[in-house]
Amino acid sequence: MEKKLSVDHLLGIKDLTKEDIELIFSQADEFKEVLNRPIKKVPSLRDITVANLFFENSTRTRLSFELAEKRLSADVVNFSASTSSVKKGETLIDTVNNILAMKVDMVVMRHSAPGSCLFLSQHIDAAIVNAGDGTHEHPTQALLDAYSIREKLGSVKGKKVVIVGDITHSRVAISNIYCLQKLGAQVMVCGPTTLIPRHIEKMGVLVEHNLMKALEWCDVANMLRIQLERQDVNVSYFPSLREYSMQYGLDKKKLDSLSKKIVVMHPGPINRGVEITSDVADSDQSIILDQVENGVAIRMAVIYLLAQRRRGTAE
Ligand code: NCD
Repeated sequence: MEKKLSVDHLLGIKDLTKEDIELIFSQADEFKEVLNRPIKKVPSLRDITVANLFFENSTRTRLSFELAEKRLSADVVNFSASTSSVKKGETLIDTVNNILAMKVDMVVMRHSAPGSCLFLSQHIDAAIVNAGDGTHEHPTQALLDAYSIREKLGSVKGKKVVIVGDITHSRVAISNIYCLQKLGAQVMVCGPTTLIPRHIEKMGVLVEHNLMKALEWCDVANMLRIQLERQDVNVSYFPSLREYSMQYGLDKKKLDSLSKKIVVMHPGPINRGVEITSDVADSDQSIILDQVENGVAIRMAVIYLLAQRRRGTAE
């Protein structure tokens, strides 16, 4: 029997089982092979229409989803908040219901409100894929990150991964913690006290405030961007960006002083010279561009498996 996902929507990694994640990975392996062919397209989703609704800025995630949908031969409509009637005061449900009236089967949404994707899934009849909901989750990013670690190191199980930076405001961090733990990795978070949520150890992660100690411990370092747009403007989380990068930025000197060769990741967009220097981002220890490449295969797998599940329940 064909394996199916246990969920109708991809709202967060928290809802997925280890088997779901492994199913997505093996499907992504097949699609990655397709993406390396001269004709990078399969007809699997010819009967599906997907709407990409981006209420928040995005470059790579939006392009990656759009490419994934097109490589599966789905029909695609794009919407970005800055050019829409949201600006005229329309509610989220009204906006989406109007789009669904045009017979859309799946909605990929990015929104600044945590929980907005769950809310939508409870009110409309379409499969929902969360492309980032505020500070809550960014499930496809975590899937492509874990998939890239599996590709580089052979497996995720037993690996030590440190997530460095603005953990408090990062949906990438939360989704990565769930995903890596479900796959059996050990996870540490590292950053200034002000950017690490209190009681985060309850999620089963280690906490380290000294970057060099964290780097010595890990096999993989995932360097995150400071989420200035989500921080409270009245609070100062660190004295200056320069001071932050001296303490928590990764440069070649720190990387080369380690006793082993670690793998360096970043979800993008990079602020070169803040959380990571150019020579590290472009070094042979960095898998940043592999992450981007794998993002398309992972998103194809997620969309394909959700569509397959939807067809199954409609029959
Ligand atoms: C991340 C995001 O939007 O949460 N980026 C991404 O999806 N490529 C991380 C970030 O913005 O720093």
